[in-house]
Amino acid sequence: MKPVMVVTGTRPEIIKMAPVLRALRKRKLPTFFVHCGQHYDYDMAQKFIEDLELPAPDFSFKLKGASPNTQMARIITHMDKLVKEKQPSIVLVEGDTNTVLASAIAANKRGVPVGHVEAGLRSFDLRMPEEHNRRLTDHVSTFLFAPTKTAEANLKRESVWGKIFVTGNTVIDAVNQHLPIAEKKSKILKEIRFDRFVLATAHRAENVDDLAVLKNFIEAFAESPVPVVYPMHPRTKKRLRQNGLYTQIKKCKKVQVLPPLGYLDFLVLMKKCELLVTDSGGIQEEATAPAIRKPVLVIRLSTERQEAVEAGFAKVVGTGKQEILAAIKAAVENKKELPNESPFGDGKAAEKTVKRIEEEFVRA
Ligand code: UD1
Ligand code: UDP
Repeated sequence: MKPVMVVTGTRPEIIKMAPVLRALRKRKLPTFFVHCGQHYDYDMAQKFIEDLELPAPDFSFKLKGASPNTQMARIITHMDKLVKEKQPSIVLVEGDTNTVLASAIAANKRGVPVGHVEAGLRSFDLRMPEEHNRRLTDHVSTFLFAPTKTAEANLKRESVWGKIFVTGNTVIDAVNQHLPIAEKKSKILKEIRFDRFVLATAHRAENVDDLAVLKNFIEAFAESPVPVVYPMHPRTKKRLRQNGLYTQIKKCKKVQVLPPLGYLDFLVLMKKCELLVTDSGGIQEEATAPAIRKPVLVIRLSTERQEAVEAGFAKVVGTGKQEILAAIKAAVENKKELPNESPFGDGKAAEKTVKRIEEEFVRA
């Protein structure tokens, strides 16, 4: 049987592919796991492979210091070689990163089917590199694993040629599989200086590469009515340093800046915090997991996770300092009951995805 090639490149891809790798192993399907090293620091990649107890990648490389086109070119070159050598039955990619698009192109050029996990998300914000990546990937995919009916409708509207399956999002599986372990193992709460806190993250290029927006974020966090715990993405740290702002935020007593955290620690903080403030995609979904169930303020102009807004978990508040502060104040003062169910599925998305691959493809 030809192997299923599972590709990751960044932190969220490792997290969201973990349940898929596990489901493949459970069904005893041969797997070839590639990490493309778009994220290459220990804290952004290997730490997740360890936290999630994944097998070591069968092949990995690092893309340190590369521009988006260089990242894509190197990934295509490596993936072309791997696809030629291993002759996989399918190449599975997850999400909307440069890794995803480059790997999908490499498989397509070798005539190997592409399975896109988390297909069909649309922010309709063409400033985002991810919006281009996800649209292009969907159009070269043979199998599109859409997390929701909304994502399926987006794909149908664009007349993609691949076969669409609605599965839920594998991140809900990841939360369910790892929160119980996190609650036993993580010691992160001992390090947190505050009893009540907002958990914040920010890394989107259109936010942190824009100095005005970057300043809005750190000023809003510094003036937040509830202290902020802020695990910082390396892209953001780099931008703050380049603009002489890193020391300013580090000195702020009401903001605790942390390095990027492992998944177990981050799950525990999500569970404990009062509110999430983020421009992350995955965190908008995790906030809706029944085991987390937290309100999330989306510090962006748009979201491709509209389902989280419609279900009452998320609110898109923009990127202005006063808008963010007003939204934090309102959210902590008026806590509302949140639904018991996630719009992103029941935690069985990976099983459904792998079952489909097996039925439709590997054993066909
Ligand atoms: C990428 C994805 C984004 C995803 C995010 C997850 C694209 C276009 N962007 O954004 O969709 O939400 O990953 O976190 O694919 N860096 C390090 N160490 C690392 C990785 C990155 O220091 O291990 C720094 C480098 O300075 C690098 C910069 O972060 O140039 C940006 O990294 P890159 O992978 O290009 O984009 P992200 O912002 O991480
Ligand atoms: N995450 C983590 N440690 C952190 C910040 C985030 O483990 O310090 C996890 C988070 O739980 C989510 C994923 O990383 O599953 C989101 O990654 P990111 O925000 O970098 O990317 P996006 O989801 O926006 O593509």
